[in-house]
Amino acid sequence: MRAVITTANGDVRVMKVEERPDPKPAKGEVLVRVKAAGLNFADILARQGLYPDGPPKPCVMGYEVSGVVETVGDGVDPAKIGQPVIAMTRFNGQAELIAVPEMQVFEKPAKLSFEKAAAIPVNYLTAWALIVAMGGLQRDEAILIHNAGGGVGLAALDIAKHIGAKTLGTASPSKHSFLKERGLDHAIDYRHQDWLPRLMELTNGRGVELAIDPLGGKNWEKSYRALRATGRMGMFGMSVASASGIRGKLRALKAVAQMPRFNPLKLINRNRGVFGLNLGHMWGEGEKVAGWTREIMRGVEEGWVRPHVDRAFPFAQIGDAHRYMEERKNIGKVVLVP
Ligand SMILES: NC(=O)c1ccc[n+]([C@@H]2O[C@H](COP(=O)([O-])OP(=O)(O)OC[C@H]3O[C@@H](n4cnc5c(N)ncnc54)[C@H](OP(=O)(O)O)[C@@H]3O)[C@@H](O)[C@H]2O)c1
Repeated sequence: MRAVITTANGDVRVMKVEERPDPKPAKGEVLVRVKAAGLNFADILARQGLYPDGPPKPCVMGYEVSGVVETVGDGVDPAKIGQPVIAMTRFNGQAELIAVPEMQVFEKPAKLSFEKAAAIPVNYLTAWALIVAMGGLQRDEAILIHNAGGGVGLAALDIAKHIGAKTLGTASPSKHSFLKERGLDHAIDYRHQDWLPRLMELTNGRGVELAIDPLGGKNWEKSYRALRATGRMGMFGMSVASASGIRGKLRALKAVAQMPRFNPLKLINRNRGVFGLNLGHMWGEGEKVAGWTREIMRGVEEGWVRPHVDRAFPFAQIGDAHRYMEERKNIGKVVLVP
């Protein structure tokens, strides 16, 4: 099979497509012939050498695929062979074939193309965990979604709108008109202005009940200041560190040095909460994640989960796909197709 290989830390030139032996499904696993694989910001950070959870290089990244069941291992119903599916994969998804435990495989909704289906797992599960499971967003509360035009950002917008919250989002200005079409109440340009005063103005000086922040570094301090009483902040990424080579390492160090330290007594007296999420550390909670996935699939059927694929790049154009995301050009999801 062909697979997308991150050969070393570096710029997009380290990305290659190479032949690898076909995987065989072990007991309880399903072998999926991949039709589309999601590209995530974690894949960019891994290539830059800034993703501690990534496998040692050379490696095949990829947390999610859509495809067709090619064959099954012992203990799995052979009737599954030929079924279109979505799967969550612990790396190795960006390849023509992948063997996955059955519990991580879900029927692909018929109304979604393979490309749109591959855009669901990471983005919607992350947004679900942040907004529903941990953030407890309620109707008529206000949410601040940073990077609202990205993959997780658009998923968060779908979920927050379904809940009936007021939505505010930061994004590059080129993404604002699309975000308004998708229902974002207020788009804030955070690239050319300080976003916090604008957010306060839009919320009559009160702030929001939930802020979800993948930027990291000193931005977490600022998002914390954007909370009103009972407000919660979910931290889940470090996009500010993104850069290849020594620049990336320096930015990561700076981001760590600038992180806020939260004082429990201040949290008590300000009636605020902070929490963190790493979906990649939820593999031991398969039942819980499967439950969230079923809720998201219900959303697909009901029409409020609307995965948006910006572009599908063939495996052979993996460098272009990385560059596209790294240069902040994507609106919603980027997927790879064999
Ligand atoms: N903890 C978890 O479990 C988890 C899971 C999934 C994703 N994440 C994190 O969530 C964030 C979004 O991930 P995603 O896969 O959905 O990516 P994405 O948002 O689709 O793409 C990246 C976007 O981030 C914004 N951005 C902000 N600072 C940036 C920088 N320094 N360099 C490049 N882009 C920057 C850009 O949008 P604008 O400039 O237009 O805003 C860019 O388009 C990432 O930090 C990722 O690591 C965390």
